[in-house]
Amino acid sequence: MTLVVGHRGACAYRPENTFPSYELAVEHGVDAIEIDVHLTADGQLAVIHDETLDRTTDRTGRVAELTMDMIREADAGAGFAAEDGSHPYADQGLRVPTFAEVLDWLPEGVGLVVEIKAREATDATVEALRGSRVRAARAVNVISFDEASIERARELDPELDTGLLLVPFDKPERGLAWAVERGHLGVYPWDGDLGIDPRPLIAQANAFGRRLGCYVVNEPDRMRQLAAEGLWAFVTDMPDIGRAAVPRS
Ligand code: G3P
Ligand code: CA
Repeated sequence: MTLVVGHRGACAYRPENTFPSYELAVEHGVDAIEIDVHLTADGQLAVIHDETLDRTTDRTGRVAELTMDMIREADAGAGFAAEDGSHPYADQGLRVPTFAEVLDWLPEGVGLVVEIKAREATDATVEALRGSRVRAARAVNVISFDEASIERARELDPELDTGLLLVPFDKPERGLAWAVERGHLGVYPWDGDLGIDPRPLIAQANAFGRRLGCYVVNEPDRMRQLAAEGLWAFVTDMPDIGRAAVPRS
């Protein structure tokens, strides 16, 4: 069954990479939540997409140059704008989560896709996962656009499921061949690179014993098509749409 993965939680509806966003994704019935991790100046893992606080919070500055305490002063609900332009989650006390908080909170039965955004965050991510419930359940995937990050992750923990993200217009065939050569289980192209007919790539991934996923799919017809053809997983900003299109069997 194709997995529905909530992109930064349910980021179409609530501030990305915050607990209200993750909680809504779980309410919508996702199979897994996708999050992004960076390393702070004091060696902690902050769950935030960008290198800086600028877009998603009311503060500025590079995550790598700030301590976690400084980052926790930022309002993680400030950047989210509703359709009418209002900011309903500003001043509600939302904070940039720590990776440890997410691991503690993650409900049983919900998987986790951890995207390493900064190579420096790799060691701490793998160490934090060691002994976690989600790793024990074999329900975590560590992924990155950076080949060196997932190479390092597998070196530190060969049992960890790792995957390579491909930037738009990078050839999925190239990613698949590299993943096979290097022993990574997953390959995650941009949906557009799967083509109108994704069957040849899905067949190729299956033949190689790889998991083929893609990002970001918000169109129900496309979700249904990808699921019907046996894609392993897709990431969506709208988990309610995803779950409705791909009901649990
Ligand atoms: O899961 C893949 C997707 O999250 C990659 O793109 O920019 O949203 O991190 P981005
Ligand atoms: Ca991501």
